Amino acid sequence: MTKRLQVYEGEGVVVTFDPNVCIHSAVCLRALPSVFDVRQRRWIQLEHASADEVVAAVDRCPSAALRAVRQGQPREAAAAVDAARVQISVKPNGPLLIRGSVDVTREDGTVVAKESCALCRCGATGTAPFCDGSHNRIGFRSPS
Ligand code: FES
Repeated sequence: MTKRLQVYEGEGVVVTFDPNVCIHSAVCLRALPSVFDVRQRRWIQLEHASADEVVAAVDRCPSAALRAVRQGQPREAAAAVDAARVQISVKPNGPLLIRGSVDVTREDGTVVAKESCALCRCGATGTAPFCDGSHNRIGFRSPS
């Protein structure tokens, strides 16, 4: 079942969170714990940091489950991405991290356009072909 997109509006910035593609790396929790706190009922509290701090933290999200859009202007980080170059990196004991605009074709032939995403390497995901963090649950280890 697809989970709904979460939208958080702050001063000068809007953050969205797509729980369907989060890989539970906890990078956001470490980057800006005053804003991203899973112990809170509303786990993103934008009022605890500046828009610049929020955007910097969101830019570190490896799966792009978190996205930030500055209100009234295009996101600088997105504008800085070279559309002609896609970056792929292997997360140890985790997914393939894709940075850049890609079209992902599912097994059934449907195409999903993504700005960035994480592709499952362990085979345990419930949101194939995207990583859903299940590699942590099963203790996946990268082939050496
Ligand atoms: S690599 Fe993350 S769920 Fe498979």
